[in-house]
Amino acid sequence: MNSTLKGRDYISLADYDPSSFQSLLDLAIELKEKQKKGIPHASLPGKTLAMIFQKSSTRTRVSFDAAMFHLGGLGMFLSANDLQIGRGEPIQDTARVLASYCDGILIRTFSHQEVLMLGKYADVPVINGLTDDEHPTQALADIMTAYEEFGALKGKRLAFIGDANNVAVSLMHACALTGMEIAIASPAGHHPGDKAMAEYERLKQPGSVLTILEEPKEAAEGADILYTDVWASMGQEQEVQKRMQVFRGYHVNADLLKLAKPTAIVMHCLPAHRGEEISDEVIEGSQSRVFVEAENRLHAHKAILAALL
Ligand code: CP
Ligand code: NVA
Repeated sequence: MNSTLKGRDYISLADYDPSSFQSLLDLAIELKEKQKKGIPHASLPGKTLAMIFQKSSTRTRVSFDAAMFHLGGLGMFLSANDLQIGRGEPIQDTARVLASYCDGILIRTFSHQEVLMLGKYADVPVINGLTDDEHPTQALADIMTAYEEFGALKGKRLAFIGDANNVAVSLMHACALTGMEIAIASPAGHHPGDKAMAEYERLKQPGSVLTILEEPKEAAEGADILYTDVWASMGQEQEVQKRMQVFRGYHVNADLLKLAKPTAIVMHCLPAHRGEEISDEVIEGSQSRVFVEAENRLHAHKAILAALL
C-alpha cells in the first residue's frame, strides 16, 4: 500500500500525479489477483465508510459496500433524501459530524462544489462517487481494464464518442496521467470545458495527446479503445428529447468499430441505453469489455479505500 496516499481525498484525478495514480492501479490489480485466489485482504478492520447518494447507483453503491466488507470494514449507505442534508442541513455541518463517526466519506451528488466543500470540512478522506463534472472512481477501473488488456498504456488511443461530461472528463485526466492518447468526438456545445482542457495540459505525460472532434469516425480511426456513455445523464431527464436529436450520430456500432484497430476493445461505464449510444450487437460482441470494466469497479474501489483509509 502506498502510505503517501493515506488520509488523502479522491475527489478529482486532477489532484493526482502519475506515480500516485499508478500505485492505485497496481494495488487494484494486486487486490483482484488476491480475491481470485481467495486470499483475504482485510486491511481495514473496524473502519467505517459513510456513503451518501443523492443520485441512483448500482455499480458504485454495491461495489463500495462490498469493498468495505472485503476489507474488514463497514460501508453505510445513506440516501441523501433521508439525511438532514435533504432538508437543507449545510454540507459543512454534515461533513464534520460524519467525519466524527466514520473513517471516510463517499458521496455521489450533482454539484462538484458541494463535494469540494465536504472535503474541506471533513478531516477524513472524501471520495467522489460521481458529480455532474467528474467520475474519478470510474476512470481508475477503466484504466485498469485497459491495462489488463494491453499492458503498457503509453500511446494507446482511447476514442470517446458522445457527451464529454463527468465520465469523459475523468478519462481525460486518467489518459493524461498514463500517457494515453484521447480523442473525443462530441457535438458542438458538448465538448469538454476550459477547466478540463487546462487540467489535461497540466497533467499530460509523454505519449498523451488530446484531440477534440465532432466526427465520431475520425475519433474511432485506429483507436485501441472505443468508449461511450449515455446521451442524457442523471439530472438531465428534462432534456432527453432534445438530446436524442443532438447525439443521434454518436453511436458506437459495428460500422464504427470496424474503423478501430482489429484488437480494439469497447468500453461503457454503464448503465447503457442499447440502441442509443451503443448497439446491442457491440455491447454483447467479442470486443466488448463492458462487464470486466464493471467488475473492476470493485477491485479499483478496494484499492482506493485500502490506500486512503
Ligand atoms: N458506472 C456507474 O457509476 O454506475 P452506477 O451509476 O450504477 O453506479
Ligand atoms: N454520465 C452518466 C454516467 C453514469 C455513471 C451520468 O452522469 O448519469
